[in-house]
Amino acid sequence: MNRASLEKRPDEVAAMFDGVAPRYDVVNDVLSLGQTHRWRRLVVQAVGAEPGQRVLDLAAGTGTSSEPYADNGIDVVACDFSLGMLTVGKRRRPDINFVAGDATNLPFADNSFDASTISFGLRNVNEPRRALEEMLRVTKPGGRLVIAEFSQPTVALWRNLYTEYLMRALPAIAEKVSSNPDAYVYLAESIRAWPNQDELAAWITGSGWGEVAYRNLNGGIVAIHRAVKPGGTPRPSAAPAARARLRRRSTRAVN
Ligand SMILES: C[S@@+](CC[C@H](N)C(=O)[O-])C[C@H]1O[C@@H](n2cnc3c(N)ncnc32)[C@H](O)[C@@H]1O
Repeated sequence: MNRASLEKRPDEVAAMFDGVAPRYDVVNDVLSLGQTHRWRRLVVQAVGAEPGQRVLDLAAGTGTSSEPYADNGIDVVACDFSLGMLTVGKRRRPDINFVAGDATNLPFADNSFDASTISFGLRNVNEPRRALEEMLRVTKPGGRLVIAEFSQPTVALWRNLYTEYLMRALPAIAEKVSSNPDAYVYLAESIRAWPNQDELAAWITGSGWGEVAYRNLNGGIVAIHRAVKPGGTPRPSAAPAARARLRRRSTRAVN
């Protein structure tokens, strides 16, 4: 099994990630031209978790997206269904709590996390809206959702250049640095087939989340969507003016 099809059958997706696991992080750094570090920092900021809080990092893979939480005294649970990715992660960071689980049927109790986040994972999930509902279920009322995912550059010229990179340069580079270049053809195709920023925001709202907003990174190559589970008490730090600003920004870019 070299790559999953765009049907994203769970067994094919898991097998594909099992195959790329040993070199996953190195190849990521090369293909993103070093940008992943900045994207990850901004995701952690958006989650805004505090020491002692419990955070679900879904589709955590090798746990690279989970590390900043563990490093800051946050009780992070790194969940993924690729045993290959989890094994690499556990070997590298034995202190992180890695859990095998499917995003569409999470092995966690209702209302058991202060925040749920998923970085570059939702696009690979066979039923992404079901995963959004599952993250809602396991997050406490008032808790946060933060999603980082590849998206659509907003300016036509940049979009065209990026599409060229995705469809031509990226597979060629992957051929040199990855043990499974076909997986990176899947990456390019799945990014192109993925909903744009507003469509994903509508999915999140449709799954029951409130206060949905997003910001674009690198002109829209990546978008960070965030939302809040309805029913919580308002956070003391969110002054009325700030809350009104957030509502106005709802479901549109907040660069
Ligand atoms: C591109 S990796 C992202 C890993 C990590 N979050 C990061 O930022 O480096 C995508 C991960 O999604 C996982 N995945 C895809 N579908 C899943 C599902 N239904 N349940 C759990 N994990 C899933 C894959 O196994 C893979 O490890």
